[in-house]
Amino acid sequence: MSQATTSAAATHGERFAHSTEVEGAVETIVNAMAAQSAQITDVRAGREELRESYEDLMARAGAARGRGLMYPYLGSGLGNGALVELADGSVKWDMICGIGVHFFGHSDPGVVGASVRGAMSDTIMHGNLQSGFEPYEFSELLLAEAAKGSKLKHCFVAASGALVNENALKLAFQKHGAAPRVLAFKDCFMGRTVTMSQIGDSAGNRVGLPLSTLVDYMPFYDEAYAARTSPKRMIDMACEHLQSYIDRYPKQHACFIFELVQGEGGFNTAPREFFVELMKICKANDIAVWDDEVQTFGRTASMFAYDTLDVGEYVDLVTIGKMSQACATLFTEEYNPGPGLLSATFTGSGSACKAGSEIVRRLLGGGYYGEGGLIAQHHKAFREQAEALVARHPDWFPDVKAHPMSPSPVGKVGGIGGMMRFSPFGGAKDKVGKCLRACYDEGVILFSCGHGPYHVRMLPPLGVMKLEDWPRVFQAVERGLAKVAG
Ligand SMILES: Cc1ncc(COP(=O)(O)O)c(C=O)c1O
Repeated sequence: MSQATTSAAATHGERFAHSTEVEGAVETIVNAMAAQSAQITDVRAGREELRESYEDLMARAGAARGRGLMYPYLGSGLGNGALVELADGSVKWDMICGIGVHFFGHSDPGVVGASVRGAMSDTIMHGNLQSGFEPYEFSELLLAEAAKGSKLKHCFVAASGALVNENALKLAFQKHGAAPRVLAFKDCFMGRTVTMSQIGDSAGNRVGLPLSTLVDYMPFYDEAYAARTSPKRMIDMACEHLQSYIDRYPKQHACFIFELVQGEGGFNTAPREFFVELMKICKANDIAVWDDEVQTFGRTASMFAYDTLDVGEYVDLVTIGKMSQACATLFTEEYNPGPGLLSATFTGSGSACKAGSEIVRRLLGGGYYGEGGLIAQHHKAFREQAEALVARHPDWFPDVKAHPMSPSPVGKVGGIGGMMRFSPFGGAKDKVGKCLRACYDEGVILFSCGHGPYHVRMLPPLGVMKLEDWPRVFQAVERGLAKVAG
């Protein structure tokens, strides 16, 4: 517990949590983990004697979930920074981290220690009816940082990105008199509840779902178009588009959902002015500005991407998740809802909340942010490696078109901060898919993003990764791509 309590007034719970036995036990666990973890130092193939049992586990996992796993991945429960050990004894570079969850990598003593402490409570989960202080401590840490650059005042914790998005949507609907429509960008992704699957701009993710949510799609910033015309023309075009929706459906929009860097959509970025002009129109028309930071949180030049883009004054609702372990909806006083709108059995587990607080503290105190911060240094190191790979193998990297009709190509290496992408084989879906699998077999775990072109995506554990790891990671990438090219 983080409440300041004098030892005379300490509860039994606090005495237990801070007892020398518990402190010693946590230290013992973390030290034992660190001793094993230190022995994981490089990529290696699976162990022959574990192959059969591993295949059996894979088959059981596939049978339980009704379809096989995308990668034959089952963790052993141990790793070392950016390296992870699987249950067959193989070791791989983890450059996707559960799609952006393990920013502090595998077997990090601080994060594991916090999570073990979080597991010491009388119950596993905290809830909205009965809770320890852990979710509120996590909320306070987020709100203290948010207060520096926005009017965000309150925070509601929930267990996944999709759920905190559902909560944000409810806040927008309630505040705006149940205006039924939402605005979202082309290629956005928001999670996989029935409603979020409808808003997310991916037909494949909503096959068989009835469409009951009214969504108006806005163009995202198109770099190729801006280069051909001008950034101003691109922004004007988007503003005209927005205004035409507002004119078509006056007072019918509850919110505009912004991903300041599109995640699943392809790590697409846009200049500040693009967002500012759209947000100003929202403000003038009483439409909530909702910033979905589930993927961007922690990964750009500031902890909140809205700070990186300096648009904090406009945001009404912000959702975060993934690397924060516990997820949250942050909102201004104006959006504080009536009773009954937001609740759920669970807010999160003690482990997730404690680890989340540890992570927020580490993010803010670890030298990660700013122009010369660790995240910027890693992004530069990534670009150097990726660009050198493109230069060595121009035949693997033909031009990538934003869409088949587009007259100008997009960059072959892209992203921002801890969101990194490169685009082999023209961004063709089948080839990129093969690259992922070949790289996996060569010892580096990656994923894709984009809906065409398709890109190779990295969300690496920059919290613990070393700059000197990058050449080693790219050696494995090069081996994988060579297999696909050959
Ligand atoms: C921008 C964004 N919003 C929401 C979500 C949904 O988060 P979760 O998978 O935790 O429900 C994601 C997940 O990738 C995301 O990238």
